[in-house]
Amino acid sequence: MDPIVTLEQAIADAPELVDRVDSLDDLERAETALLGKDSAVGRVSRKMGSLANDLKPKVGAKLNETSILIKDLLAAKRAELEARDEERNLHEEMVDVTLPHLTIPRGRLHLVQQTIDEIVDIFVGLGYQVASGPEADLAYYNFDALNTPPDHPSRWESDTMYLDWGAPEDEVLLRTQTSPVQARWMESHDPPVYIVVPGRTYRTDTIDATHLPVFHQIEGLAVDDNIQFSDLKGTLLHFAREFFGHDSEVRMRPHFFPFTEPSAELDISCFACDGGQPGCKVCGGAGWLELLGCGMVDPYVLEAAGYDSTRLSGFAFGMGPERIAMVRHGIDSLRHFIDNDIHFLSQFG
Ligand code: DAH
Repeated sequence: MDPIVTLEQAIADAPELVDRVDSLDDLERAETALLGKDSAVGRVSRKMGSLANDLKPKVGAKLNETSILIKDLLAAKRAELEARDEERNLHEEMVDVTLPHLTIPRGRLHLVQQTIDEIVDIFVGLGYQVASGPEADLAYYNFDALNTPPDHPSRWESDTMYLDWGAPEDEVLLRTQTSPVQARWMESHDPPVYIVVPGRTYRTDTIDATHLPVFHQIEGLAVDDNIQFSDLKGTLLHFAREFFGHDSEVRMRPHFFPFTEPSAELDISCFACDGGQPGCKVCGGAGWLELLGCGMVDPYVLEAAGYDSTRLSGFAFGMGPERIAMVRHGIDSLRHFIDNDIHFLSQFG
């Protein structure tokens, strides 16, 4: 066939073929069909060498024209397909930033747990270990090992919840304090002792603004060579300043606990009015806030746990994280801690 006719036919056919192309893959196939080895352009260009010399310029020119025309058609199609794909991608991948987003409410620790963690952290910073013990314990650990006489009123059923009531050595109760862990720890560990014991405690109290039947305590115990009262005071002053602020002061008032001698209550200077403004909402003008009980470990307690009280001495303290949180945040009732009121709880943390 006349190569010129072949090429003209190719020019005539190309637009329809390219028109039918609907994807970049199709386009590649069309390119092969129109410009590849077996296409009209391919076949004619292969034949160029064998053409008569006088035909060569004319056929060559037509070949050039054909291939430029086809390439232009293909390029236009490619541009069209790419634009279409880009438009589709833009549409499909569009993010509507005005849509309301899904909020998953984040939980938080209860204020009492936050307070416990913060207090324990301060003592861990001083090298104390964190210890724990059973909430249902023998009366022996809750009372006897702590030098509490058999007829002490705190043992009465009106104060203590008994699980097993019977011979004194078998009596099981819900611990009324975290102090039994002092005896348990010393029985199973050699000195020196530096522990804090956060935990739940129980008493037969009716719920009101200042009492809960289930509450928390944090016990502290340090036993070592030559521990003195000044060590106790310095340690608690450090704690008070870390927790309430660096200009806090502490004072001690004599008190009584069966397991410490001497015993004291520790007050902290009012952080709200800085020492007694009449009508202060936090301290009522007293200038001091009652914080915790403490004292030097009674030698009887050391001996009962198998420690040599002639060689060792120690101090102990016990505090209520609920009370400490109330003091710090001006909370007026313990009921808030158990009401599960989200408006109250979500103010903290
Ligand atoms: N266990 C005491 C209570 O429940 C608190 C306490 C006071 C603990 C003095 C101590 C301490 O370790 O030395 O009231």
